[in-house]
Amino acid sequence: MQTISVAVRRNIFLKGIFRFSSTIPVKTSINDKSLEYIYRVGIRNAPIKEELLAETRKIYPEDADMSTDRIQGDFIENLIISINAKKCIEVGVFTGFSSLCAALGLPSDGKNFALDISEEYTSIARKYWKLAGVDSKIDLIIGPALDSLIKLRMEGHENSFDYAFLDADKPNYLNYYENLGSIIQYKT
Ligand SMILES: C[S@@+](CC[C@H](N)C(=O)[O-])C[C@H]1O[C@@H](n2cnc3c(N)ncnc32)[C@H](O)[C@@H]1O
Repeated sequence: MQTISVAVRRNIFLKGIFRFSSTIPVKTSINDKSLEYIYRVGIRNAPIKEELLAETRKIYPEDADMSTDRIQGDFIENLIISINAKKCIEVGVFTGFSSLCAALGLPSDGKNFALDISEEYTSIARKYWKLAGVDSKIDLIIGPALDSLIKLRMEGHENSFDYAFLDADKPNYLNYYENLGSIIQYKT
């Protein structure tokens, strides 16, 4: 049995929509067999992920912890693969780590709609998506996410997304959730 320190975001699933809130450091006990299993099966080896996180830390030392962390990114990739998602949406891109992980899990004809307000942050994202060869799977939409979500609805994306990740602008989460409600397809 080992005690490990992990940063945990309290994860909330509502009707299939994956919502994160605050990140909290916790100590947890885990037996060696489980730990070995997580590292053997859960970690996806992709040096490009480490490179993106390293450049983010270098350019934005103050803001780098906005990135989804490495193990959560691998979880996203595994989740996308395991639910066989083809169409994803993310609110909050920053330098593109979670979008990169989602896109790596998508099939070649899959699409991840990535919404952010910042041209500056997402210029780093674009660079790494291209380097990873997943840029054709990501549609970056720049602008306030609420406007972009409403536009997507009006453009006919009703009930068509398999996965959504809310990771920006927390005061608007409820508004995002309500707008996502009509474009996520609920599978029973
Ligand atoms: C927590 S970071 C996203 C982290 C990203 N998911 C990752 O794993 O690296 C939050 C992002 O939300 C963006 N943002 C803040 N307010 C926004 C808004 N109203 N609409 C769209 N994006 C917004 C910021 O520019 C920032 O890049």
